[in-house]
Amino acid sequence: MDGNGRWAKKRFLPRFFGHKAGVDALVKIVQACIDRGIEHLTVFAFSSENWKRPSDEVSGLMGLVLAAVSRYLAKMGAMGVRIRIVGDRDAVSDKLRAAWNEAESSTAHNSKLTLNVAFNYGGRWDIVQATRKAIAAGVPAEELTEAKLSEFMAMAHAPDPDLFIRTGGEVRISNFLLWQVAYTEFFFSDCLWPEFDEHELDAAIAAFHERDRRFGGVKETTA
Ligand code: IPE
Ligand code: MG
Repeated sequence: MDGNGRWAKKRFLPRFFGHKAGVDALVKIVQACIDRGIEHLTVFAFSSENWKRPSDEVSGLMGLVLAAVSRYLAKMGAMGVRIRIVGDRDAVSDKLRAAWNEAESSTAHNSKLTLNVAFNYGGRWDIVQATRKAIAAGVPAEELTEAKLSEFMAMAHAPDPDLFIRTGGEVRISNFLLWQVAYTEFFFSDCLWPEFDEHELDAAIAAFHERDRRFGGVKETTA
């Protein structure tokens, strides 16, 4: 969900207002995904590297997440959304950890759409934490297959993503789901995240349908 800061700057507003508009954009996109029958949506909300931002922006983002949980949790629940947080919770405040736990437990019975919120997440962190967990579980080296390691990844409960969308015009992964995107289709949008709406989502889905997915195999041919 990239481009919040630039969206605000274009309007001569502090960056925080861009993040605020970004939350509203997310709520609309969750509904649009439900309408389209999408069952898993994973959003990159805060990366392991975002701590490098000025402290007032970091604390603004943390406060915004708390406000978003209290404002939208009931609505998300009513929409049939199951919320799951993926990322390192050790470094976040007790207050935020409690809000995450509440968001997860109060929506655990929902199954229409799983919203995975990647927070204090990094693709490399995920691979390292999975490996550590596998070692701690006593998995012998010769049994540590791709499938085995996948069981310890933060997104083990979800299928690998079909489509990866990055907004904001940047054409890179920036340490998002590295392990999981081996055969994912990529779509890069020039929309700044607060402007990303169901029309741009449909453009991404239409582009996805044009792709020829072979997963390393060859295309099936017909006579
Ligand atoms: C949002 O966009 C990403 C978050 C970390 C919440 P940015 O804050 O990266 O916006 P730009 O790239 O400066 O426009
Ligand atoms: Mg950015």
